[in-house]
Amino acid sequence: MKNIEIVTPIEVKEYAELTPQEARLVELARQATHRSYAPYSHFSVGAAILLDNNEIITGSNQENAAFSSGTCAERTACFYAGASYPDAKFKAIAVAARDASEDFVMRPVPPCGACRQALLQYETLADDNVKVLLVGRNEIYILPSIKSLLPLSFTEF
Ligand code: THU
Repeated sequence: MKNIEIVTPIEVKEYAELTPQEARLVELARQATHRSYAPYSHFSVGAAILLDNNEIITGSNQENAAFSSGTCAERTACFYAGASYPDAKFKAIAVAARDASEDFVMRPVPPCGACRQALLQYETLADDNVKVLLVGRNEIYILPSIKSLLPLSFTEF
């Protein structure tokens, strides 16, 4: 028998410690929460994706009366980026969220499993790590890749 341990490295930064490029992506993700349509959960999520052509694509969660038809902020941004710039590679994504109190959540919100799988495909296409910035009220979690959020992932197709 042997054991395998999978470790997820997370760098935790305060706002003042972000690079200018990180701070810009975080700010755009925060702004995108204001374009969320979340009449059911009252949980407003924003995502901002930096592409290798220097474009930044934003998205927000868009809910629907037929619940399963709604989509998360990350997939809104990721599919919009893919549809708008099919040849561009993803470099980084920032995700921010506000709850019913309208304040940004204290603890950074990580993407759901479906979003991790969707994003992983674009990381695979980019053939390079896509940095992940998860935005909390006072701290930002920075992960080196989508794969680090989805270990033992399925990428065969
Ligand atoms: N949501 C996102 O947009 N991204 C996440 O990472 C987690 C959840 C949305 C889906 C739904 O509209 C609301 O947040 C509550 O789950």
